Amino acid sequence: MASDSRQVVLSGIQPSGNLHLGNYFGAVQQYLQLIESGHSCYYFLANYHALTSMRDRDRLLELTRRTAADYLALGLDPDRCAIYRQSDLPEVCELQWILTTVTPMGLLERCHAYKDKIQQGIPADHGLFAYPVLQAADILIVRANLVPVGQDQKQHIEATRDIAGYFNNSYAKVLTLPEGLIPEAVAVVPGRDGQKMSKSYNNTIELFAEEAELRSQIFSIVTDSAAVKDPKDPDRSTLYALLKLFCTPDQSAEWADRFRRGGLSYREVKQAVYDRFMDKFGPARTRRAQLLSQPEYVEEVLMRGVEKARAVARPLLRQVRAAAGIPNPGH
Ligand code: TRP
Repeated sequence: MASDSRQVVLSGIQPSGNLHLGNYFGAVQQYLQLIESGHSCYYFLANYHALTSMRDRDRLLELTRRTAADYLALGLDPDRCAIYRQSDLPEVCELQWILTTVTPMGLLERCHAYKDKIQQGIPADHGLFAYPVLQAADILIVRANLVPVGQDQKQHIEATRDIAGYFNNSYAKVLTLPEGLIPEAVAVVPGRDGQKMSKSYNNTIELFAEEAELRSQIFSIVTDSAAVKDPKDPDRSTLYALLKLFCTPDQSAEWADRFRRGGLSYREVKQAVYDRFMDKFGPARTRRAQLLSQPEYVEEVLMRGVEKARAVARPLLRQVRAAAGIPNPGH
């Protein structure tokens, strides 16, 4: 790849649940492709963001540790990208403060995480209100210009661009305005109940669940009450949509045919989803079990990752401070 098309890519995931198929096909798969394409990639665990939705110390620590192992097991290569914990790069919080001082209240009042809570009459804390500014700092601190995220994060990328613009206009053109890399709505992975797959809907198929649990998740994908002999419409079937994720175009066409022809039992399709899931994720599941028994290795990877991020974050922060009239120590 020519050096001028090398992008700086950054994305984060909150370690607030177990990784599921939606995370894989909606995010991780794209992360892998971006590394493959030779971009400079930063992938981090947004544990400070997770604090806005959970207050369970042990669970947060455990999920942060596990999500790091999950990423590695799924093939994110620490030699070819930077994997780190947000909290290991406290420069982000410093940048966040400076950014809050150029961020209009109205911009944050319009952001949906906060707005939805207020509309539902649920009290929101300041962390949730300021969430988009912390996210902007995550992105801006490594000068990312490409941010692969789901549709639901589009607003946050726009907020980041606005905030960077306010800073640049107030002081000096220091910050890089990022673009979102957002998959089409059709690429949304359905959950077991047909809504978007999301841990908050409790409809996920988890990548690293125990086999018995995984089986029960896959076998509880909703289907209609059509009998085996009945013809079935693949395009209205959540089960078909999930199976398709694991198929080549030819294979999905063949399954679609079998749906339409009748004589196909949903049980057989569920078993096929299970088998294909295992073919695809079996090796990652084995690696992940090994990684969980090597916490020192995972920690070392995270330390290497944050060093790479810091090498870019430090000089950026110096420029930001200088632009805003905050002395850099010793200067
Ligand atoms: N808000 C994102 C989510 O919930 C996580 C996140 C935090 C993020 N900081 C980020 C994503 C920076 C992309 C870039 O999915």
